[in-house]
Amino acid sequence: MDFTGKTVIITGAAKGSPGIGYATALLFAENHANLVAVDIDEAKLASLEKNLAAGGEKVMSRVCDVGDEARVNEVVQEAICNFGKVDILVNNAGIYKEDRTSFADSKSGAWKKKIDVNILGTMYFTHAVINNMIENQYGRIINIASVAGVYGLRNMVDYSMTKGAVIAFTKALSKETGPFGITVNAVSPGNITDTRRVSDMSFLGRSGTPQECASLICFLASDDAGYISGQNYQIDGSRRTM
Ligand SMILES: NC(=O)c1ccc[n+]([C@@H]2O[C@H](COP(=O)([O-])OP(=O)(O)OC[C@H]3O[C@@H](n4cnc5c(N)ncnc54)[C@H](O)[C@@H]3O)[C@@H](O)[C@H]2O)c1
Repeated sequence: MDFTGKTVIITGAAKGSPGIGYATALLFAENHANLVAVDIDEAKLASLEKNLAAGGEKVMSRVCDVGDEARVNEVVQEAICNFGKVDILVNNAGIYKEDRTSFADSKSGAWKKKIDVNILGTMYFTHAVINNMIENQYGRIINIASVAGVYGLRNMVDYSMTKGAVIAFTKALSKETGPFGITVNAVSPGNITDTRRVSDMSFLGRSGTPQECASLICFLASDDAGYISGQNYQIDGSRRTM
């Protein structure tokens, strides 16, 4: 894979462990992309930018809540000013660790937060880059969904709903963007941990790693994946649904 001359925006890129966005940012940078790293965590973002810039990579990091549409538009405009265009968007930022509980005990405030980040954040960033991609007749959009959006997970009903929405968004959008050379795909991780661990959640008997997710994401963003669009790829070691 060679992303020389390509500009990629990755949301939720700052966090290192397990950090699917972080691992993906590193892999894009290793393969010479111009990187726009977005996150709400200013300190971790600064450390990512410092590490990559030290290796000579072209990186622009911006603090941005993906649920803040005005800020999302600003960041995308800055990316276009700095690098000339946006070729690849990875909508990775997502929240799932907080407020796990039965639907009966859940609160609407927690649903709304997940809807803002997981659904609207994905839509805001996609909406902000889409006209630039249409102008350039080229684009790769990869939305990070989840097995929760395919199977539905107990005590994560709100989260499952948001990720199901991301998968449907992916499929529908690909039908509009195909004529402009823009592919749209989703990646649905199963149980991902910083290192491989024994796990009864998959028939492979282990968890997956952020690096394994990053490899799939970067492949879908590459020119080799030019005829793949509107798909949801599960990366879950053959999930035992729970
Ligand atoms: N790790 C897993 O097992 C797993 C499984 C299925 C799906 N996913 C999905 O993969 C994606 C990444 O997961 P992860 O485990 O690497 O997450 P993580 O929690 O380790 O990292 C998420 C990053 O997103 C950032 N972030 C959170 N809210 C944000 C916001 N509003 N705006 C901008 N940035 C924000 C965080 O600061 C963090 O750096 C998420 O969409 C998640 O739903 C993860």
